[in-house]
Amino acid sequence: MDRWTRVRSFFPVTQQMAYLNHAGVAPISTRVEEALTRYLREATRSGARHYTRVYDAEIERVRQRAALLLGARVEEIAFVKNTTEGLGLVASGLDWQPGDQVVVCDLEYPSNVYPWWNLRNRGIETIMLRTRDGQLPLDLVDETLRQPRVRLLSVSSVEFGSGARNDLKALGRICRERGVLFCVDAIQSLGCFPLDVESCSIDFLAADGHKWLLSVEGCGLFYCARRALDLLTPRVVGWRSVTDNRNFDDYHLELQPGAGRFEEGTPNTAGIFGLGAAIDLLLEVGIEEIGWRVLALTDRLVRGLEQRGARVLSPRADGLASGIVSFIWTGEAPRETARRLLDQEVFVVARRGGVRASPHFYNSEDEIDRLLASL
Ligand SMILES: Cc1ncc(COP(=O)(O)O)c(C=O)c1O
Repeated sequence: MDRWTRVRSFFPVTQQMAYLNHAGVAPISTRVEEALTRYLREATRSGARHYTRVYDAEIERVRQRAALLLGARVEEIAFVKNTTEGLGLVASGLDWQPGDQVVVCDLEYPSNVYPWWNLRNRGIETIMLRTRDGQLPLDLVDETLRQPRVRLLSVSSVEFGSGARNDLKALGRICRERGVLFCVDAIQSLGCFPLDVESCSIDFLAADGHKWLLSVEGCGLFYCARRALDLLTPRVVGWRSVTDNRNFDDYHLELQPGAGRFEEGTPNTAGIFGLGAAIDLLLEVGIEEIGWRVLALTDRLVRGLEQRGARVLSPRADGLASGIVSFIWTGEAPRETARRLLDQEVFVVARRGGVRASPHFYNSEDEIDRLLASL
């Protein structure tokens, strides 16, 4: 049995359908199911009796695994309920001055637009860059960031509709040179492609677990670089935000020294159990390997689509290709194509004017061929 067939056996969803919607909500592996069952068994049999030994220990273990995945220090990681919460910590936490500007682009998911628009009444302007051919040109970013009032650039690692992968290293370099903070919505690539926060000069990053990380909804990661920690004022604080936070008797509003200060209360412990097992599996398989595998599967899909006369909307040049392939089947509305494919147990969706297919590493070449044949 080759390694991809072995890892495929962890995903029972493969017995039901060709699941090609990891850019939407992913199915979970039996590894994650087992971790959740472990949590449920503990909660059912013992409640909080072994909180420190079982729950706290797992929460801190998963924090370490998350740090490893991102190339971060463990004290730079906080658990959040979703990507939006992470981006909101940045939007609400920075010390904005009227006239400050935030730069985003018109390919972004609404979670990376509304938090910035919401600052409008405080005099903060959002510059929405107009993109070309589904991708964000670096020279446009470079030029825009020369404006003196730009405080922050916020982009996705991979754009949710077009699937264009942004060159985070180059964007990080531009931000550093211009003294602009760099915020990344990593939900469309984390778990699929390597990401190193340090070498990309990322200040803030957020990603929920339910897409390429292959975990459950409602539990994600927020990274805040140590150098940027004191730039963010947590707008919600509670018992867990502070040092010595099991001392409930002597009030002391001394924030935790690390990103843990953004975890204001009881965490989503079940979600963290799931996320831990999901990250473990990804690290075991190897993120580099996963990235190559996903590119091989999407290349196969793109070749097949082009041979059949479909129009591929996703940029596929080296460095731009991702796990997302958006296409149009000639003469048919994307929603109709997606519906037809779903009728044949091939799960894709319609997004931003195209049919969006997003295979992960455990999908097979046969499933890609099934999509093509089902068209
Ligand atoms: C780029 C991007 N950001 C964020 C989200 C979702 O955000 P959240 O985790 O807050 O639900 C999505 C979901 O499709 C997305 O594609």
